[in-house]
Amino acid sequence: MIPRLGVNIDHVATLRQQRGESYPSIARAAEAVLKAGADQITIHLREDRRHIQDADVAPVHGWCKKFNRPLNLEIGSHPEIVEIACRHKPEWVCLVPEKREERTTEGGLALEDGPTLARLVKALDQLAQKSPATKVSLFIEASAGTIAQSLKLPVHAVEIHTGDYAKDFLENKPLQKYLDLYARAHAEIKAAGRGFHAGHGLTDQSLVPLLKQGLFEEYNIGHWIVGESVFAGLEHVVAQMSKQLKERV
Ligand code: PXP
Repeated sequence: MIPRLGVNIDHVATLRQQRGESYPSIARAAEAVLKAGADQITIHLREDRRHIQDADVAPVHGWCKKFNRPLNLEIGSHPEIVEIACRHKPEWVCLVPEKREERTTEGGLALEDGPTLARLVKALDQLAQKSPATKVSLFIEASAGTIAQSLKLPVHAVEIHTGDYAKDFLENKPLQKYLDLYARAHAEIKAAGRGFHAGHGLTDQSLVPLLKQGLFEEYNIGHWIVGESVFAGLEHVVAQMSKQLKERV
């Protein structure tokens, strides 16, 4: 199995929002990512709109359609945001927990928490009613209890939160406990016929043990890709501008 690569381009929008300019263009980022062979684009429309804006969703989805690739729209369960997802009808919605004060999504959905579960059930119902062709994944931890809870919900896939794994990888800590959890979660999720995805905090290096294990069908990766892209492009862009200055003299 060759796993799919979903590229999260939120961080391009973060850079744009930092200055309130129209660049770097999120649509251009979507086009570049798809041209380069990404299997999917992931964007997170947060309630606080800190990076992706409402007006970004249609153009990004447009590029996905041109390349015949899915748009994976990450959202919290707030009814207003779910309504926006229903209007755009992305191929996938990934339901995630959201806290305004967090720097990024800090963990998986707390499915054992009554109010969280109730909000989630409402969101799933809203999506099923208004955008029935949209497939839904739940962003969750791989712990046994959470996996069992997820199986009670009508979703197509789970996306396992790999943030703690990725952090421990960078700190050279043991990883076996994560790989064991992923193996067990995978067996249960696949026995139920659902998709097994992963995301958060992954780099080209922390991806290696997961690829060797060969369980995840899809990886959604953003921060490292966008960060590394700076170095892939910096020399070229500076050389071009330097040339431009010399040509003007
Ligand atoms: N998957 C989910 C559900 C996320 O919330 C994020 C971060 O927005 C990602 C994947 C991508 O994480 P990163 O940007 O750390 O690669």
